[in-house]
Amino acid sequence: MQAVYSIVELRQQVTAWRLQGETVAFVPTMGNLHAGHLALVAQARRHADRVVVSVFVNPLQFGADEDLASYPRTLAADSAKLEPVVDVLFAPSMMEVYPRGHEVASQIDVPEVSESLCGALRPGHFIGVATVVAKLFNMVQPNYTLFGEKDYQQLQVIRRMAADLCFPVEIIAVPTVRAVDGLALSSRNGYLSTVEREVAPRLYQALQKTVQGLIDGRRDYAALEREGREVLEGADFEPEYFSIRQAGSLKMADSEMPELIVLAAAKLGKTRLIDNLACSLVE
Ligand code: PAJ
Repeated sequence: MQAVYSIVELRQQVTAWRLQGETVAFVPTMGNLHAGHLALVAQARRHADRVVVSVFVNPLQFGADEDLASYPRTLAADSAKLEPVVDVLFAPSMMEVYPRGHEVASQIDVPEVSESLCGALRPGHFIGVATVVAKLFNMVQPNYTLFGEKDYQQLQVIRRMAADLCFPVEIIAVPTVRAVDGLALSSRNGYLSTVEREVAPRLYQALQKTVQGLIDGRRDYAALEREGREVLEGADFEPEYFSIRQAGSLKMADSEMPELIVLAAAKLGKTRLIDNLACSLVE
């Protein structure tokens, strides 16, 4: 594995691969890597000759009151995890990505799919995500890119952005990797206290209960959502949303549309957790 810090050096490497007729898969991350990220890397290996992983904590996607300052930065450990499985670790500095400052960078705003759920609760978040991912796509110019279903709305925002802006990249979704008790792996799980960590799987259990209700034939979406919130409140979460939506578009659930997704965001103490579970009602 080669560690690369500049766009010029990255482009030289990618150009050399292309001249040999090799394909490139790209996994963008903010580091503090866990088995969820490594599942994306493993999938990347199956699709392309070369794999590039970026580690960059993107200030543009954090709100003023969010955890940018405390977000775990563990580049040495991340590098050791990637060493045996990737070709290039791209870890650009802030100056490399936002030479004029992130506050004055041109931005990409993806309408509709980024407006509800996390987008409504975290104003500007998906502008920050779409902008940095577009920049990274232009830096790496990959054939394939891999995103986790764990961040389901982010995946849809990136799909829409890539389609709207004609990025010549194939986007591959990777299923959520979970701990044995069901909790979706996340860099933010490290913020949880021992007691909170024990309670945290209730988020996934609430989603499973809702999906079971749908499979059992319930279509009273509002009641199902209310019950989901109540499960979370009963476990000392502060729910931000608990919502049944159409898969892909994230429009309101509709009994005509059999592919649904149940999404939830909730605070447990100071930690904000998100998760989702798909439900196909096709006979
Ligand atoms: P980060 O939270 O580091 O996640 C990087 C990628 O790993 C995302 O595609 C995310 O969905 C995926 N991922 C995280 N946890 C996962 C899990 N338990 N199972 C499967 N995949 C998982 O998402 C970001 O960084 C940033 O917003 C980024 C896209 C890098 C832009 O800054």
